[in-house]
Amino acid sequence: MDKQEFLQSYLVDRHKTDSLKWDGLQQKFGETDLLAMWVADMEFKTCDGIVDAMTKRTRHGVFGYSCVPDDYYEVFSGWMERRYHFPVKKEWVRFSTGCVTAIAWMIHAFTKPGDSCLILTPVYYPFHNVVTNGGRKLVKVELDYNDGYFTMNYEAIEKAIVENQVKMFIQCSPHNPAGRVWTEDELDRVLAVCQKHDVLVISDEIHQDIILGDKPFVPAAVVSGGRYRDIVITLNSASKTFNLATLLHSHIIITDDGLRGKYDQFASALNRTEVSIMGMVATKAGYTYGGEWLGQVLDVIRDNYRYLKEELNKRLPRMTVCALEGTYLVMIDLRSYVDSEQTLDFVQKHCRLAVDYGEWFGQAYKGFIRLNLATDPVYIKQAVERIVAEAGNLS
Ligand SMILES: Cc1ncc(COP(=O)(O)O)c(C=O)c1O
Repeated sequence: MDKQEFLQSYLVDRHKTDSLKWDGLQQKFGETDLLAMWVADMEFKTCDGIVDAMTKRTRHGVFGYSCVPDDYYEVFSGWMERRYHFPVKKEWVRFSTGCVTAIAWMIHAFTKPGDSCLILTPVYYPFHNVVTNGGRKLVKVELDYNDGYFTMNYEAIEKAIVENQVKMFIQCSPHNPAGRVWTEDELDRVLAVCQKHDVLVISDEIHQDIILGDKPFVPAAVVSGGRYRDIVITLNSASKTFNLATLLHSHIIITDDGLRGKYDQFASALNRTEVSIMGMVATKAGYTYGGEWLGQVLDVIRDNYRYLKEELNKRLPRMTVCALEGTYLVMIDLRSYVDSEQTLDFVQKHCRLAVDYGEWFGQAYKGFIRLNLATDPVYIKQAVERIVAEAGNLS
């Protein structure tokens, strides 16, 4: 299937389908007539294999309590092994209704009220809230930012860990919104710092399958031959990969027996840790049949990114479109054209766009916006035209 056929078959108009991105505009942005490029889901229908499997299950008509069959684990492990050299044993896997929920559980299972948890900003804003709302101390270390490219500052990380007696590092890999796919060397360095200071690492790898460039995604649990497994807990899901967010199904992978025992003890006090049957059916089908569909989605995202970057670089040469190695969420630095205090006015009132604002991820990023590229190329074009035209009106 070529790109045009793919777009014709899978793009959908999500207005009036209870979609947060479109039908939630009024609530989030106070108006409805905006081009929605915010929340991190896609404008594409999921792959046929998933729809077929869910349809079959729906026809069965019974949605009672479920267990997870062995072949679920085999399919999941196969995907992880083929793509990331990380065969996942059945006994390592636990489930939750989402990665953010799982982060909250990890905080409660492994830290005490008042303990320090580290995040690297700018980062997905629920990482901030889940720590503070959970009554833990939030420790933020800035990623280094240089001309649209983010890197980790290991010295600053170590200093913050020591000064605050950090107990847990909540890692985002690939990183939203920095767009980085961390290399094995980068992960090795930050994990070594955590190991040295006894810091447990919760590695949120929900974007693992959205890899756009040459850098391979490396799960934290396989870095340096698995050297850090006794300090790493991995969270992932097929939800970003196949656009399944509201099926509420994600994985907690704990390879270390001691950590898993501790988690299980905590989980025994939770009301519900069984699976959602539809989440399980969809995830298994995606990992079985979804590879080709995913490849086509990645091509659309790559083309959208290339177009956005080339056009903005050409027409607004002082605007920085950040590098995008992974995820479908790109940061754009508007500051050379728009006063940071005027960003919302420029983007929403003039460009008529609904985006995520840089300061939601970290105060230092006021003046940046994050755009969602898992969308219709026509929308990307419209967004570019509006930004260029309105930037022209400013001068
Ligand atoms: C890094 C990261 N973690 C978690 C989530 C949300 O995951 P869930 O819906 O499974 O809680 C997102 C969504 O954008 C994300 O970017």
